[in-house]
Amino acid sequence: METQNVEPSAPPPVAPEDVLPADWTDRLDRILDAFRGRPGSLIPVMQEAQRAMGYLPLAVQEYLADGLNINASEVYGVATFYAFFRLKPVGRHVCKVCLGTACYVKGGEKIYQQLQKDLGVKHGETTVDRRFTLEGVRCVGACGLAPVVIIDEEVHREVDVMGMREILGRYA
Ligand code: FES
Repeated sequence: METQNVEPSAPPPVAPEDVLPADWTDRLDRILDAFRGRPGSLIPVMQEAQRAMGYLPLAVQEYLADGLNINASEVYGVATFYAFFRLKPVGRHVCKVCLGTACYVKGGEKIYQQLQKDLGVKHGETTVDRRFTLEGVRCVGACGLAPVVIIDEEVHREVDVMGMREILGRYA
């Protein structure tokens, strides 16, 4: 599969631990308003908030709980139950290394280990410069292309350690 050029983008913002800046609360208010009164809106609201902020720090969870008139522990329970919710800030690019069986036997694990060394992070962590967040993931359904690494929405097929370094360089 051919890869494409990647547009550089600013890193997502990071919220302070306890106080949310006004532009964050404005965005969260708009999301809450859009879902107000709709039953079963907790997960959609959280998904929208994560899309807007990049992740769901505790202060955001508490703000959403207030806005939805529910207990903050309910939001926290959902945020920690579903793997797709992020509690820590993400980098400009999310690099997912497939560790499903087909990718694993074709070198996915080796690539994953090397990326951890090269980037200086472990699973789910973000590099100091906030350029990459690294994740090891289950089969992404492209076993015929193994080993597979997905960066943002872009699928990189039949990658190896050296090729991976070259690929990461494109995301500078
Ligand atoms: S095991 Fe990697 S795509 Fe299926």
